[in-house]
Amino acid sequence: MKILIMGVDGYIGFPLALRLLNRGHEVYGIDNFITRKRVANVNSDSALPILSFKERNARIKKYFGRNVKFFYGDATNPEFMYRAIEKSRPDAIVHLAEQRSAPYSMIGLKEANETMVKNITSTMNLIYAVKDIVPKAHILKLGTMGEYGTPNIDIPEGFFEIEYHGRKDMLPFPKNASSWYHWTKVHDSNNLMFANRLWNLAITDVMQGVVYGTKTKEIADTGLYTRFDIDEVYGTALNRFTAEAILGMPMTVYGKGGQTRGFLSLNDSIQCLTLALEKPPESGEYRVINQFDEKYSVGQLAEMVQDIFKREYGIVPDIGHVENPRVEREEHYYNPEHRKLEELGYRRTKNIEEEVIDAISDLSKFRERLNSLKETLMPRTFWRRSSYDYT
Ligand SMILES: NC(=O)c1ccc[n+]([C@@H]2O[C@H](COP(=O)([O-])OP(=O)(O)OC[C@H]3O[C@@H](n4cnc5c(N)ncnc54)[C@H](O)[C@@H]3O)[C@@H](O)[C@H]2O)c1
Repeated sequence: MKILIMGVDGYIGFPLALRLLNRGHEVYGIDNFITRKRVANVNSDSALPILSFKERNARIKKYFGRNVKFFYGDATNPEFMYRAIEKSRPDAIVHLAEQRSAPYSMIGLKEANETMVKNITSTMNLIYAVKDIVPKAHILKLGTMGEYGTPNIDIPEGFFEIEYHGRKDMLPFPKNASSWYHWTKVHDSNNLMFANRLWNLAITDVMQGVVYGTKTKEIADTGLYTRFDIDEVYGTALNRFTAEAILGMPMTVYGKGGQTRGFLSLNDSIQCLTLALEKPPESGEYRVINQFDEKYSVGQLAEMVQDIFKREYGIVPDIGHVENPRVEREEHYYNPEHRKLEELGYRRTKNIEEEVIDAISDLSKFRERLNSLKETLMPRTFWRRSSYDYT
C-alpha cells in the first residue's frame, strides 16, 4: 500500500514509518519539524537524543533498503498539501501533524489561536486535497480520548442510541473537552464527519488514549530512538513520572491524582494504527475507534512506577502531589468502550510494567541529558492563568 504520514518526524509518526516500511508498504512523509521548534521554545528537548530527519532517513535506508519519500512543508499550506498528495497519490493518509500539547494551547491567546488555526486548517486542507485528487483514499486521523471528557455515563465508540421525548436516534456522542487543544480535535472530528456525509470519504477517526514508552520492535532493531518528551508542556504523565523517578525527584501527581484516562504503549499504538490501515473502513464509511488498552488514574500510575523501582532497583521514589494546573474533575466515573480494535485483530503486546522497565533502561543511558531537563518538569502552565500579553 502507498501510505502518506503527515507528521512523520514525531513521537508516533517516526516509529509508524519504520513499522510500515518493515511490513513492505511504500511510505511517504510530510513534516515541517515544528514540534522540535516548539519544544525548544519552551526551553526543553527530547529526553532521548534524536537525529535530524535527513540522518534518520539515511539510516532507515541502510536497514530497510528503502526509506521515506519526504516532503518538507507545512500542512496548513493548501498549495503544499495539494502538491504532496498529487505527487504521492496515496492509498491512505495518516494525519498526525498537529500541535499536540494541551498545556501549550493553554499558555495564552497566541498559543490557543495557533493551535486552533493550525490544527483545524491542516485537517481541512487534507479533506479537500483527498476529495479533489484521491477520493478513494483512506484518511486515518488522530483524535484523542480527551474529546469525550469524563461524563458520568459509559462512553461509546463515537455514536450512541438515544431516546428523547419518546423518539430514538443514533447520534454522535456529546464531546466535552478540557483544553483548547482537545477542542481542536472535537472540531476536526465534526469536520471529518461532515466531509464524509458530503463526499463519501472513507475515514477512520481514532480517539487515542495517552501513549507511553520508548520502544517498538523496529526501534530496538535499528537503535533509532523516537522523540521522548518529559517536560510539563510536552511530556505525558507516565513518561514524566519515569524520568522523575530516575532523577530521584518526587513524581509530580497533579492534585489528588484521581483523574482516570485510557493508556497504551507506543508499540501498541503503532500496532493499532497499522491494523486500521491494513483493514480500512468500507468505502464511504466514517469509522470511530477508541484506541487504548487499559485505564488508570494518574495516582495509580505513580504507584506503579514506585513499585517497579522498589522491586527492580530497591529504590522507593517519592510520590509528590502538586497543585493541579488544569481545570478538570479529579474524581469521576470513567468507562469508555473499546471493542472495534479487538474486532480488527488487536492484541496487547506489552504490559505497562515491561514498557516502564524498557523506558528506565533507555533513559538511564542519558542521565546528563535528563538532568539538564530538571527545571522543565514542574507545572508552570495553569489553565486559569491563561492570558494575552498585549502590552
Ligand atoms: N502522544 C500521545 O500520547 C497522543 C495521544 C492522543 C493523541 N495524539 C495525537 O497523535 C498525533 C501525533 O502525536 P505525537 O505525540 O506523535 O506528536 P508530535 O508532536 O511528536 O508529532 C507531530 C509531528 O507533526 C509535525 N507537524 C505538526 N504540525 C505540522 C504542520 N502544520 N505541518 C507539517 N508538520 C507538522 C511535527 O513537527 C511533528 O513531527 C497528534 O495529532 C496528537 O494530538 C497523541
